[in-house]
Amino acid sequence: MSIQNIMVIGAGQMGSGIAQVCAQAGYSVVLHDMQEEFVQKGIGIIQKNLNRSVEKGRLDESEKESILSRITASVSLENASNADLVIEAVVENMDVKTQLFKMLDQYAPAHTILASNTSSLPITEIAAATNRPEKVIGMHFMNPVPVMKLVEIIRGLQTADDVYETIESVSKKLQKVPVEVNDFPGFISNRILMPMINEAIFAVYEGVATPEAVDEIMKLGMNHPMGPLTLADFIGLDTCLYIMETLHEGFGDDKYRPCPLLRKYVKAGWLGKKSGRGFYNYGV
Ligand code: CAA
Ligand code: NAD
Repeated sequence: MSIQNIMVIGAGQMGSGIAQVCAQAGYSVVLHDMQEEFVQKGIGIIQKNLNRSVEKGRLDESEKESILSRITASVSLENASNADLVIEAVVENMDVKTQLFKMLDQYAPAHTILASNTSSLPITEIAAATNRPEKVIGMHFMNPVPVMKLVEIIRGLQTADDVYETIESVSKKLQKVPVEVNDFPGFISNRILMPMINEAIFAVYEGVATPEAVDEIMKLGMNHPMGPLTLADFIGLDTCLYIMETLHEGFGDDKYRPCPLLRKYVKAGWLGKKSGRGFYNYGV
């Protein structure tokens, strides 16, 4: 089916990046959040990214303006009435997501595909909150969205084949590489990545090494572009904790128990780069 209008829900680090790549690919985009200031913050991130591309000579000023003109701000979910595709990127919490999908199911036309950028939550359960489970799918972008090539596409139990094919083709139009997986906790990306990050946190918790040493070892020894603790701060420690909780609960296996130090930092409001403090201090 043909997709022209995309609504992105949640204008945080992922939603703003998703809106940017959709507008760059020529789609008309509505960027939605709970408050106008949150949407404007997201649009500010997009402007900054596009300005950098102009400075580097990859984009000219008029292309930048035309990309920005394709993005409209929204604080009313009723705007879903014009969307062919909704991509949800709000906080990694099942209650918040199911509540949102129930409302989207009411406002969006029958043909609209409802996609979630969830990192780990079951697509099948999110789909069950709607009356269109065959049109619900996981469209998992990686952070930072404008840079990372992968979109992990997750089929829920009832996702229709034509919906999968549409999302695969939209992902390619966004210049991304889609990879198909089935619906199990953490999918593939976070089933493998997040236990590594959690283990790095345990190593610090147990006093085996400092965060700097852990990161240096993984960068220089394994050629990772970022050490696991820098990456955890970059992803957001709240998101890391939610993902570990989903793995722990979903598999019922204690090998996925979140490190107490991760819980402690999240309780303290140390959420990583976005809050100014995590394993490192970002001087905000
Ligand atoms: N937004 C947009 N563009 C960004 C960016 C951002 N936040 N950060 C960096 N970039 C761009 C830069 O502009 C630069 O572009 P050009 O080369 O075209 O000029 C390019 O990325 C490289 O940036 P830098 O030279 O400044 O820095 P770097 O070489 O260290 O690369 C990085 C930065 C790409 C983020 C790299 O460190 C990296 O790949 N880190 C690992 C990222 C990763 O693992 N992501 C997945 C996280 S897990 C996930 O997303 C799933 C989940 O559910 C949690
Ligand atoms: P974030 O905290 O940066 O942004 C979340 C945004 O959602 C905020 O602007 C918040 O105001 C908004 N929001 C919350 N509830 C809302 C609601 N009911 N209606 C509308 N907006 C609402 O988080 P993020 O890092 O962008 O993560 C968003 C989603 O993407 C999560 O599901 C996360 O697991 C997933 N994800 C994150 C990463 C990452 O590296 N951070 C990577 C891939 C996927």
